[in-house]
Amino acid sequence: MSNPNLHIIILAAGAGTRMHSDKLKVLHEVAGRSMIQHVLNTAKSLNPAQITVVCGHQKETLKQALTSESVNWAEQTEQLGTGHAVQQAMSFVQKNESVLVLYGDAPLVEAEDLQTMQSEACVLTAHLDDPTGYGRIINQDGLIAAIVEQKDANQDQLEIQEVNSGIIKAPAEDLRRWLQQLDNNNSQGEYYLTDVIAMATEDGKPFQAVQADQADIVKGANDMRQLADLEAIYQRRLAGRLLQQGVRMPRPETVDIRGELNCGRDVVLDKNTLFVGDNRLAEGVQIGAFSMLENCDLAAGTVVEPHSMLSGVKTSGACTIGPFARLRPGTELAQGSKVGNFVEMKKAKVGENSKASHLSYLGDAEIGDNVNIGAGTITCNYDGVNKFTTVIKEGAFIGSDSQLVAPVTIGAGATIGAGSTITKDAPDNQLTLSRSRQRSVADWQKPSKK
Ligand code: UD1
Ligand code: CA
Repeated sequence: MSNPNLHIIILAAGAGTRMHSDKLKVLHEVAGRSMIQHVLNTAKSLNPAQITVVCGHQKETLKQALTSESVNWAEQTEQLGTGHAVQQAMSFVQKNESVLVLYGDAPLVEAEDLQTMQSEACVLTAHLDDPTGYGRIINQDGLIAAIVEQKDANQDQLEIQEVNSGIIKAPAEDLRRWLQQLDNNNSQGEYYLTDVIAMATEDGKPFQAVQADQADIVKGANDMRQLADLEAIYQRRLAGRLLQQGVRMPRPETVDIRGELNCGRDVVLDKNTLFVGDNRLAEGVQIGAFSMLENCDLAAGTVVEPHSMLSGVKTSGACTIGPFARLRPGTELAQGSKVGNFVEMKKAKVGENSKASHLSYLGDAEIGDNVNIGAGTITCNYDGVNKFTTVIKEGAFIGSDSQLVAPVTIGAGATIGAGSTITKDAPDNQLTLSRSRQRSVADWQKPSKK
């Protein structure tokens, strides 16, 4: 569905002083994505004719962050208020367009919420238990007489719990006219967008209040506390969707998703699991408590035991990982393989039914099927300048505490004796070891005290 007359203006020029951060407010993240990106994604899903972003503070950083987006950029050199900000965007607005104003610091609103704003001129409002900080709606039978900002409100007005989300919709030409009449005669000395509401009423074209059924969606982040609040609301929403879809989460409020998480049937996400970036968990995958996954693609039946950290891992069949495994990008595990505690892997492929059960570093390695890697095995893949590959062919057995100095190949069915430092290729089916022979000194005597 496209909206050929819709023009969405996103306000993002403010510094966000109350965040006490060098980072531009709208670039702070909720669920792993910047607030402005959330708002932009929602805007795009409405298929408007145009999107105009009003920038000011750190405008180059903002443009850089949204470099792949096709939007108009309007500049507000001085932040003189939300009304003034919208004014800066009006040169992009066509006569017949309907203007919808969104705020870059209010990322919870979704397309469905905006679709409820059907009338020509309306404001999305919400009923908040604690309305502190928001503009209050002076409501007369569903029509808005005015919006009064917190700092300008009298005692009675402060009691009002219906608040302005900041999101308004109005016909272009009416809005243009009202904006030209704004003054900054208020406690903050700003040109308030909210003042157009009273003008519209005077014009006999009052705005309608459209109350959101989920009050939370109007919330914005002016400070870190509110940002954390938005994060919690957003995470609750994501967890709710996963539960609805059949994902088992014994403690959903402890699971965090920062990006996309795609789950098949009967997936289990245990307590305190964290998902960053793009993760895909096929049927029956289980993620143990306190584990973190980043950009992973796990095949059906894969089990990740607690306290594991996986980044860029791909499994092609059911396998077991952890507890306490650290798997870095380029790790690929085949059906039936097992990576146990305190094993670190990087750019390492492990064949079917192969095992590295404890305490190993496997980097730049190609490991065949049915290989057993003993505890303490290290692939020495780096000479201080370049990286080299270790190849371990199928059925090989690497004894504990061995160092495989790459480039090196361990043949199929080979056995490496425990404690060996292997610097040359080991042939198939032979025992290779490099360590001094063990001997016992029969006539040795313990020293005695002089
Ligand atoms: C605004 C509304 C308030 C509403 C609340 C909802 C006004 C006057 N007040 O207050 O009624 O309840 O949002 O969250 O509109 N911005 C600019 N240029 C400026 C000023 C602001 O681009 O000169 C941008 C900010 O970057 C921000 C947005 O507009 O993304 C809102 O500004 P902010 O200062 O946070 O307004 P609130 O005080 O929250
Ligand atoms: Ca705000």
